[in-house]
Amino acid sequence: MNLKGFKGVLIYTTAIFLLSAVYSLYVFFFYPPFDEKETKLHEIGEVFGEAGLWLLVFIYGRTLLKIIWGKGKIAQRLLPDYYPSSKLSVVNQFLGLLNRTHVYFGITAVAVILIHVAMMGIPMQILFFPALIALVVWQGLFGLFLTWRYTPQQIRKFSYLVHAQFLTGIMIGFFAIFGHMLIET
Ligand code: HEM
Repeated sequence: MNLKGFKGVLIYTTAIFLLSAVYSLYVFFFYPPFDEKETKLHEIGEVFGEAGLWLLVFIYGRTLLKIIWGKGKIAQRLLPDYYPSSKLSVVNQFLGLLNRTHVYFGITAVAVILIHVAMMGIPMQILFFPALIALVVWQGLFGLFLTWRYTPQQIRKFSYLVHAQFLTGIMIGFFAIFGHMLIET
């Protein structure tokens, strides 16, 4: 990522953070309190939520690794006597493994998060939650378009553009954190 791109992501992240914080304050002061039900179904649902969270951390960890790894390539071009150490090729191998398994982790993440939502009976009047469902389904849908062999080229290009970037992830992250803060009082 170049400096301009990095600045853009930083501005976008700040904007999503501020928007989420302001909306959270609005819900906090103007909505009736939400009590958490402590049933067996809820306890199982929480496990699915936790698993979904770790899957997302894992999935976006790959993206972070790619960004960091990209820096190595720049260093390679800038420094005449820069030789990638053998450690770097281990990273490369690891990235290869992550790339090959992403589809399975992706499908599992979407399924696990949707099961979590179904089991918890989440208050949809807090807009973070319908937005989160839409974003997760969005990732799943365009991920499928990317892998389906009959997807027309134009749609595949568009799918890559909207699926394979950090921006949806930043929204998913903030909406999930603020949404859960509002219901776990
Ligand atoms: C919540 C679920 C998902 C998230 C958060 C997610 C996220 C991402 C991200 C961030 C990338 C960019 C790769 C990178 O540079 O790191 C990517 C690429 C990709 N995803 Fe997903 N994804 C999800 C689900 C899926 C599903 C369900 C499929 C297919 C059925 C899929 C297929 C792909 C493909 C084919 C690519 C491009 C090739 C690659 O980089 O491996 N994803 N995804």
